[in-house]
Amino acid sequence: MPKILEKKTLAPKVTKYVVEVPKIAKKRKAGQFVLVCPSPDGERIPLTIADADAERGSITLVVQEVGKTTAEMAAMSVGDEFKDVVGPLGTPTHIGKVGTVVCVGGGIGIAPLHPIAQAFKAAGNEVICILGARNDEMLIMEEEMSAIASELIICTDDGSKGRKGFVSQALQELIDAGREIAECVAIGPAIMMKVVCEVTRPYEIKTLVSLNPIMVDGTGMCGGCRVEVGGESKFACVDGPEFDGHLVNFDLLVRRQAMYKQQEREALDRFQKSHVCNLEKAK
Ligand SMILES: Cc1cc2nc3c(=O)[nH]c(=O)nc-3n(C[C@H](O)[C@H](O)[C@H](O)COP(=O)(O)OP(=O)(O)OC[C@H]3O[C@@H](n4cnc5c(N)ncnc54)[C@H](O)[C@@H]3O)c2cc1C
Ligand code: FES
Repeated sequence: MPKILEKKTLAPKVTKYVVEVPKIAKKRKAGQFVLVCPSPDGERIPLTIADADAERGSITLVVQEVGKTTAEMAAMSVGDEFKDVVGPLGTPTHIGKVGTVVCVGGGIGIAPLHPIAQAFKAAGNEVICILGARNDEMLIMEEEMSAIASELIICTDDGSKGRKGFVSQALQELIDAGREIAECVAIGPAIMMKVVCEVTRPYEIKTLVSLNPIMVDGTGMCGGCRVEVGGESKFACVDGPEFDGHLVNFDLLVRRQAMYKQQEREALDRFQKSHVCNLEKAK
């Protein structure tokens, strides 16, 4: 079973896991994800492959604790095993040699952005990264992204690191300064991706976004991850998760993401009441 080889806290409620899954580590491509089920009676959740080491046979997941399953993962330790990890899933990012690519990441979205920025750099593009977080403490993977970027711009909502303000403002300033931008990739909260798309739309800069609707089977069978792109229904798990941001109906995405709020709250509540932490068990 997939063993947790490393576990490290990157920011409050954000944890990096290195997991042993040799076949996935060998096959994965930028933009792909896995479905992780932490325990036999648990639920499968989609998580992006933030990095992989084919020789070691491991993949890296960067996970924000938001509900029952991510809380269950946070309670696990190095040496513990997930019930299963399925993948790699999703259509890999189309990586061309296009010139300058601006990679815009917000919050936990910086993790899925990392392998895409890596792949654009490896294909010979100039990569400019704009990273945003609520504050200095919440900013993740700065070192990894600065190793890829020819220019790294950091924005925080409160100005505690880099410049104060949103990533979309920093992007607008690059455009206003006359920088030639061939493509933009934006990954983060739906509202951030929507705003970035509105910045690039008037300049016709191709903008790729990675959508995170609720997923169930991850294989195109259940229809749970339905999104509207260019007026058509698409399944994010097999047609995406990346799409042309100028064609995405973000308002519908946000509504569908919130469909199970009450059930999610109840599941987390039940887990917190029934969970006995490992330290307690050892007493
Ligand atoms: C293709 C894909 C890749 C993803 N990659 C990552 C990643 O690398 N790291 C990471 O931390 N998260 C990622 N997510 C989001 C992650 O799947 C959810 O945070 C997770 O399913 C929440 O499960 P839970 O049981 O802990 O919380 P739940 O109780 O199921 O949900 C709690 C809250 O989390 C939010 N949420 C639930 N499901 C999703 C979802 N699918 N996407 C976004 N927010 C959601 C909602 O606001 C919800 O109210 C990805 C999602 C998709 C679709
Ligand atoms: S998750 Fe079931 S169709 Fe995409």
